[in-house]
Amino acid sequence: VSTAVIVVAAGSGTRLGAALPKAFVDLAGQTLLERSLRSIILLPYPVQVVVVAPADFVQDAQAIVHKVAPGLESLVSVVTGGATRHDSVAAGLAVVDAGVQVVLVHDAARALTPTSVFADVDMAVQATGAGVIPALPVVDSLKQVDVTGGILGIADREQLRIAQTPQGFPRAELDAAYAAAGSADFTDDASVFAANGGVMTTIPGDEVAFKITTAWDLNRAHQVLGGIPD
Ligand code: C5P
Repeated sequence: VSTAVIVVAAGSGTRLGAALPKAFVDLAGQTLLERSLRSIILLPYPVQVVVVAPADFVQDAQAIVHKVAPGLESLVSVVTGGATRHDSVAAGLAVVDAGVQVVLVHDAARALTPTSVFADVDMAVQATGAGVIPALPVVDSLKQVDVTGGILGIADREQLRIAQTPQGFPRAELDAAYAAAGSADFTDDASVFAANGGVMTTIPGDEVAFKITTAWDLNRAHQVLGGIPD
């Protein structure tokens, strides 16, 4: 296969307030990780999938893989994540197959991301040779504030985008960017890639690919699913 998708699912999910790591929280009968994986395996061509799970949840992740992709286990592996998202992505990158040319990195927490976004990002990386992220326009006004909440300045929202995942990259350049970044903590892979001189571009994201971070987000995801039959 020429594309790998690393699904980072090793976060603790403290902001969600659940007893379980976020990717293992239930959303209308399926965990967030299960929903993310279902979207990926619906791609019309085979891809390598690497699930990055918390150390205590590797077996749970393997059980989810078995449930979602029976017969495809040879294409899907589960590895243990690290203390930061950055470390978790690095752990996933370490097991990407030798022949893979394009790597997509996806937050398991963006559980409702449609299959088409994975395909679009993959195609755009292949077509441009650049790093590609799905992104949305900013609808709110943005303020820069100090620690007390006092307003220091404004930002021009026309020039800003909200970065989603999957974020896709030419494999060799992403490997090099992660090697150069060491243990510095970036919040997404596009930042790691750009910090090493990589060229990045955006394609339109999807509203439904929002990151499920808080209890309110989980509620919103439930409501979205109310309109999308399983
Ligand atoms: O914390 P945040 O919401 O930014 O996490 C985004 C994604 O990164 C989540 O899917 C989470 O499971 C993953 N993550 C990880 N390892 C960490 C922290 C976050 O795989 N140490």
